[in-house]
Amino acid sequence: MRYALISDIHANLPALGAVLVDIGVRDADAVYHLGDLVGYAPWPNEVADRIRQAGIRGVAGNYDSTVATDYKHCGCRYEDARQEELSHLSYAWTREHVSPETKQWLGTLPFRIDLRPLGGHTPGPTVTLIHGNQTLNTVYVTEDRSDDFLIAMGAAIGARRGDVVAFGHTHRPWHRMLGGIHFVNTGSVGRPKDGNWRAGYVLLDVTASTVDVEVRRVEYDVERAARAILESGLPGEFAEYLRTGGSSLSAIA
Ligand SMILES: [Fe+2]
Repeated sequence: MRYALISDIHANLPALGAVLVDIGVRDADAVYHLGDLVGYAPWPNEVADRIRQAGIRGVAGNYDSTVATDYKHCGCRYEDARQEELSHLSYAWTREHVSPETKQWLGTLPFRIDLRPLGGHTPGPTVTLIHGNQTLNTVYVTEDRSDDFLIAMGAAIGARRGDVVAFGHTHRPWHRMLGGIHFVNTGSVGRPKDGNWRAGYVLLDVTASTVDVEVRRVEYDVERAARAILESGLPGEFAEYLRTGGSSLSAIA
């Protein structure tokens, strides 16, 4: 079974389009998203429509659930006053521009999805999809988390040897195996933060005895996205953020 896992699209329609084209030629059996469909770019409704039209199921990111529930902030991290201001501006813009239909649909996204690629009639591998961690979609599971942290996370999820725990939220892809459990951060389609502007996603090949993880990066029309941000009333800094893969502003997600 080959899954394509796409996360943190963040209302970037050109990036989503390019990733779906790439997935189309790679024979994925199924596509799932790992949340944060909206925020930071000007196509929240178009991204939600495209995901629904393509029949792509997935989980609620912090941006999705906070927009859906009128929460007081997006649950995003910031490291200084300017980043905090940008975070609030993006959240306010997104809340103002999501249609009632998009907002309602974002509220229906599940917190977690468990997949059984071999059917579930044998105890074979489980692939668990979450946005942050198993308790909150706001927790950043970054690559520098300790082995002990990840082992506890796997245990809390109920993961066993051969299983996969997949998540996003940090916008930086990585993969580590501990105790036979694969921990996979799928990176970000629409707002990478690792210095690489290309849209990122993961192809996951699962058999009864093997798990293969391929992180893919796909070029897209980043200038179209940058232009649309500048014309939208969103903070102009978000255009340069996309062009530089997050290098222009270090820590907001
Ligand atoms: Fe995100």
